[in-house]
Amino acid sequence: MIQVALCPTEIRRFSAMDLSGVTAVVFDVLRATSSIITGLAYGVEAILPVRTVEAARNLKMNDPDLLLAGERGGLPLADFDLGNSPEEFEKIKGRRVVMTTTNGTVAIESMKAASKVLIGSLLNIDAVADYLFRYQPKSLLLVCAGTGEEFSLEDAIGAGALVTRLSDDGLSDAAIFVRTLYERVGEDVEEWLRQTTNGRLLQKVGKGADIQRCAQLSGFDVVGYLKGESVVRLAG
Ligand code: MLT
Repeated sequence: MIQVALCPTEIRRFSAMDLSGVTAVVFDVLRATSSIITGLAYGVEAILPVRTVEAARNLKMNDPDLLLAGERGGLPLADFDLGNSPEEFEKIKGRRVVMTTTNGTVAIESMKAASKVLIGSLLNIDAVADYLFRYQPKSLLLVCAGTGEEFSLEDAIGAGALVTRLSDDGLSDAAIFVRTLYERVGEDVEEWLRQTTNGRLLQKVGKGADIQRCAQLSGFDVVGYLKGESVVRLAG
């Protein structure tokens, strides 16, 4: 069965359910999960997703080697080492990073009770599909992180890209919807991403170049998953 949480309200509804036996794949295409996958591809050791700026700062206080990353309103936070741009995550090989973003890290944290939590993005979509094809989870939940409290088109496009790569047995209506959306988008992923609410905000705050990076399909053969509190790269 493939289900999709299309917005934060639905994420909260699913997270209140029994998630044992569920494999969750979290998408925050613009930009948190794209940045996480970029980091893992470039040798970041681990990324600890947290909900709040305060939680991030507290972790750093207890472990000064951690880097702080994240955004609010698309912009880096004062006294943080990094923002939420994928290219920043290319330059911190071997480091451990605590990360807080408006929606992406919240969505990852919300799925902690699932049997497995994978990090989804367009950048590693084939790697995630291959992993799921090999392990055939009985219950799959695609989690679209959203923008603020709202549905976001880019995360639905990411989820749709995954559904089109999986067997079409047992699709929920929402899974059929995201697959249909992705088929409609076709080759024009970047153009669609530019038109989204978050895409327009990123262009306004000078982060438009990130959209092109996040729109690349399967540049990285990387599966990232939540191991305890940290996102790490799946070996081999
Ligand atoms: C989020 O978590 O809401 C996003 O990653 C926001 C952003 O693009 O920085």
